[in-house]
Amino acid sequence: MKRLASYVFFIVLCGLALSLPIKERKCLREKVITFPDLTTDNWVKLHPNESMDMSAATVCLRFYTERMSLDPCLFSLATPSYPQDFSLRWLSTSKQYEMTIHSFKVQMDGLVFNNNQWISLCATWDANSGLAQMFVNKVASIKKAVGPKVSFKGNPVITLGQCQTQYDGGFNEHNGFTGFIADVHVHGQILTIRQIKTYMEAKTKYKHGDYINWHNLMYTIAGSVQVEGKHQVTFNSKEEQQ
Ligand SMILES: *[C@@H]1O[C@H](CO)[C@@H](O)[C@H](O)[C@H]1NC(C)=O
Repeated sequence: MKRLASYVFFIVLCGLALSLPIKERKCLREKVITFPDLTTDNWVKLHPNESMDMSAATVCLRFYTERMSLDPCLFSLATPSYPQDFSLRWLSTSKQYEMTIHSFKVQMDGLVFNNNQWISLCATWDANSGLAQMFVNKVASIKKAVGPKVSFKGNPVITLGQCQTQYDGGFNEHNGFTGFIADVHVHGQILTIRQIKTYMEAKTKYKHGDYINWHNLMYTIAGSVQVEGKHQVTFNSKEEQQ
């Protein structure tokens, strides 16, 4: 009986271990993260080395999608003070990108969002000016004021493919992302226009994030999310020509 009990216990433990998301550190150069279906069970968390104390930030990433949810979320950074401290999503009804800074929202118009094409995106915000700007492929938005002029502070929870509506969770199906995300970098400063241009051109020598670096990334994946080779999932990216 005791034997049977420990056997059952062992099976339960193994089952748990199999279903637990794995945290690992890897270089994801030339890799993409694949989000194959629309469910709040699919997410990726990025783990920075240290908590935040930065007065400016730049987030850069590339994505490739076929829009399936209403307002797909690309990037979501929550801190204990602001559940949406820095987040990026596409609003399909108004055809605008939305940036949320310290839980205040601003929309950027006239930037491309195409199905089945790599799109490079960078977003910047500076606490000194309180101004946000977005760059999509090689088009810059205007600068817009958003949020209180205070620094990003505290221990962030950073997710890809889902927007957090509360600190560490609260996912909504209408913000789910499907497709591929790659080359995510978070910088604790505003990149120059020249640095952003180099990133957009996908040159290998672009500046890596000093806060989150795709080439040395600690992350956790959950659900049916996968890491795959970029050249195994799409043709050579067109960023160079745009
Ligand atoms: C985080 O720490 C690791 C291990 O010390 C280091 O290799 C990596 O470069 C650090 N990441 C960043 C973004 O500074």
